[in-house]
Amino acid sequence: MRPLKLYIATSLDGYIATADGSVEWLDAYQSDEEDYGYHRFYDSVDTLLMGGNTYRAILGFGCDWPYAGKQTWVLSRSIQAATSGQVGIISRDALTFVRQLKSLETGKDIWLVGGGEIISLLLAENLIDEMLLCIFPVMLGNGIPLFPPSPALSKWRLEEQRSFPSGATMLTYKLS
Ligand SMILES: NC(=O)c1ccc[n+]([C@@H]2O[C@H](COP(=O)([O-])OP(=O)(O)OC[C@H]3O[C@@H](n4cnc5c(N)ncnc54)[C@H](OP(=O)(O)O)[C@@H]3O)[C@@H](O)[C@H]2O)c1
Repeated sequence: MRPLKLYIATSLDGYIATADGSVEWLDAYQSDEEDYGYHRFYDSVDTLLMGGNTYRAILGFGCDWPYAGKQTWVLSRSIQAATSGQVGIISRDALTFVRQLKSLETGKDIWLVGGGEIISLLLAENLIDEMLLCIFPVMLGNGIPLFPPSPALSKWRLEEQRSFPSGATMLTYKLS
């Protein structure tokens, strides 16, 4: 089984984007000195999974596709075709698809990029194996929640905690 790992940035009050979908609030924490474990994590995955809103948000950045060289799967019922050959759209039987993706015996880990709706969908089925939550010391007040309501209870084991000079904290949890 290949583990599905959520690696995501969140505000202190549990939002991953402002209400308009922007992640510009994260810009204040970017620096050449600290990548919050991103490159190490990125090297450990060869497949990305994300929801349609997250895909549209990334396209909205207006830059080249940032995940070249990795396979990306987008869960979406409305997107007809992807803009890059390395991106596939999954419009039906999303949970079956994710189970099959995880059951492949070869390959690196799978990065669950977000967003909240897809996290909630997969949490409800216990399909997320690990969560790396980078919590930044800012209150957004409202926005797009990291964890929208989910019907399932799950228990998690704290594997690692790191703190950064910026005041951010990285918490790594494994499904127990
Ligand atoms: N802070 C961070 O590190 C971070 C990381 C990732 C994302 N984000 C932000 O999070 C926001 C997006 O989060 P979100 O919760 O609004 O949306 P999301 O989880 O990215 O995407 C939701 C979409 O997924 C599709 N979907 C949901 N269930 C499905 C199913 N069963 N089968 C097929 N497709 C399904 C639908 O796409 P269609 O509408 O296309 O049909 C739905 O609208 C963006 O603003 C992004 O910038 C932040």
